[in-house]
Amino acid sequence: MDINKYLLPEIGVDVLRYDSVQSTMDIAWEHFDSGKGHGLVVLAKEQTQGRGRFARRWHTGYNETMSMSVILQPPLEQLPLIPIAANLAIADTINSITGLSCVYKWPNDVLVTNRKISGVLLESRVTPEGLCSAVLGIGANVNIQIAQHPDLIGIATSVSELLRHQTNIDIFETNVIKNLQKRYTESASNPIATLAQWSSKLATLGQAINVRLTSGTITGTAERVDNRGRLLLRLPSGAIKLLEEGEVTLST
Ligand code: BTN
Repeated sequence: MDINKYLLPEIGVDVLRYDSVQSTMDIAWEHFDSGKGHGLVVLAKEQTQGRGRFARRWHTGYNETMSMSVILQPPLEQLPLIPIAANLAIADTINSITGLSCVYKWPNDVLVTNRKISGVLLESRVTPEGLCSAVLGIGANVNIQIAQHPDLIGIATSVSELLRHQTNIDIFETNVIKNLQKRYTESASNPIATLAQWSSKLATLGQAINVRLTSGTITGTAERVDNRGRLLLRLPSGAIKLLEEGEVTLST
């Protein structure tokens, strides 16, 4: 039995839509601090200071991308599976809209035709008693014209670029919310299935890679992921290094 399912409201029980915000992450945390809880979804048409992993800037021009943050209150052991569930929910949505399959780049990028279409950011707080609260941020390139952004050419793609026409961002968002609820529930009731579906499409595995960490860059071969989605990197010395975070590029 999935206890979560009975105790927690559904994701999207409350959806707050904004026009322009600095970051939906901050708005979601503000709502959390003023008493909102699990399932609240914050959406914005534009972010002026959208953020990505490693404190990178995340581009969000008006109505170009989906900018979503979701308050979640999972059991602590489910926390590492949340970005993975989000990757699967994005891939489900893109597949249903474009008919195309996605692959993943460790830790949490979603790629189509080898280019990034979506990224995930998880911020969490854990009390000394182990109670966990998180804001899951999902950015997805829906209607952005990649050709107008020189820094994204060859690196990113969008739904509109794949379909060669604009798509309805509201329908995209509704699909993500529905798929996220399904994948979140699955990651609680059957974490092994969630991990298996994700890692079977993890393009990083088997590759010689560089991983940028806050402490510097290391090189090795991506061997596999463990049951928390951590990467096992085989170093040139033969030793295995277990990684929780990092920015991966293929080593040439
Ligand atoms: C990454 O790939 O580095 C993660 C990008 C996450 C971007 C999303 S957009 C919605 C939410 N608000 C933010 O400021 N960031 C996340």
